[in-house]
Amino acid sequence: MSPHSDSGHGHGHGHGHANHSTDIDWEVMATQLENSGELQLPVLRRTVARLRELLGPDKEVRRILDIGSGPGVMTCVFAEAFADAEAVAVDGTPGLLDRTLARAERLGLGGRVAVRHAELPEGLDGGDEHGEGGVGTADLVWSSRAVHHLGDQQGALNALAAVLRPGGLLAVAEGGLPMRFLPRDIGIGRPGLQARLDVVQEHWFEIMRAELPGSTTLVEDWPAMLSRAGLTRVGSFTSLLDLQAPLGETARAYLHTHLTRLRESMSESLDVEDRKTLDVLLDPGAPEGILRRPDAFLLSATTVFTGVRSAQ
Ligand SMILES: C[S@@+](CC[C@H](N)C(=O)[O-])C[C@H]1O[C@@H](n2cnc3c(N)ncnc32)[C@H](O)[C@@H]1O
Repeated sequence: MSPHSDSGHGHGHGHGHANHSTDIDWEVMATQLENSGELQLPVLRRTVARLRELLGPDKEVRRILDIGSGPGVMTCVFAEAFADAEAVAVDGTPGLLDRTLARAERLGLGGRVAVRHAELPEGLDGGDEHGEGGVGTADLVWSSRAVHHLGDQQGALNALAAVLRPGGLLAVAEGGLPMRFLPRDIGIGRPGLQARLDVVQEHWFEIMRAELPGSTTLVEDWPAMLSRAGLTRVGSFTSLLDLQAPLGETARAYLHTHLTRLRESMSESLDVEDRKTLDVLLDPGAPEGILRRPDAFLLSATTVFTGVRSAQ
């Protein structure tokens, strides 16, 4: 959802840290990632329409790469929207690529979605323009919430820009606001729980980044980073997902899993009262629990940074 909403899910590249596992098992995250994508579908469709505008009416789009594609929800949206293009999901987690193919098949997009297993960013090197022997090149390169899992973010953007065909567009979803889903005062514990959860997630995120192989720090000025990657017409836009209370089942399940992850991997940074509040929120039988409470909503803002490779 938000840039950091994938945090706290025990993952696969760090060495862990006292009370803060930063290892993400992406296979385990599959259902959560697909639920998140499903909830974001209206935003993803609006995003694709905006990218189409940015490409311009005359730009032919024959091949699209979705880098760090997860379960391929956006890859399938691209395949739906660009009827003449091949949409290719690129990810380092084989189970998520299988899920992408299954999703494409289910949506009747089977012949139009391809997958490539690649470890980023080195897996972007090589291959001809059609992706024989590598990921190949593309007229549109999309990457959502993946670059921040790579040690050298500028290096990653350079590599993404390098697979763009002349006149092609790179779009990176990496910004926005922390997700909100509860009122300030929820009637249990101390008001302001979400603001305190933001703080522990930010701390977790900092450790996660520090432990990535080849981790480098830089000012996360995404437009400047895209310019340094050699792109022009750099800009950004932000889309809002506004699911109002009462939430449906998928949104509640998504939030339950989100809170479970926070409880499991970050709760040592919270005080006893907040830990108790999380327990109530996670209790499936409690009327105040996230699965049943009437006031839970889902508000998230995602920023997409874009840049174009010049046509010559
Ligand atoms: C937070 S998920 C984002 C999924 C999807 N793009 C979305 O926005 O919902 C990050 C994805 O990046 C992939 N990933 C993370 N690090 C990677 C790496 N070093 N090489 C290849 N894929 C990687 C994971 O497998 C996962 O599917």
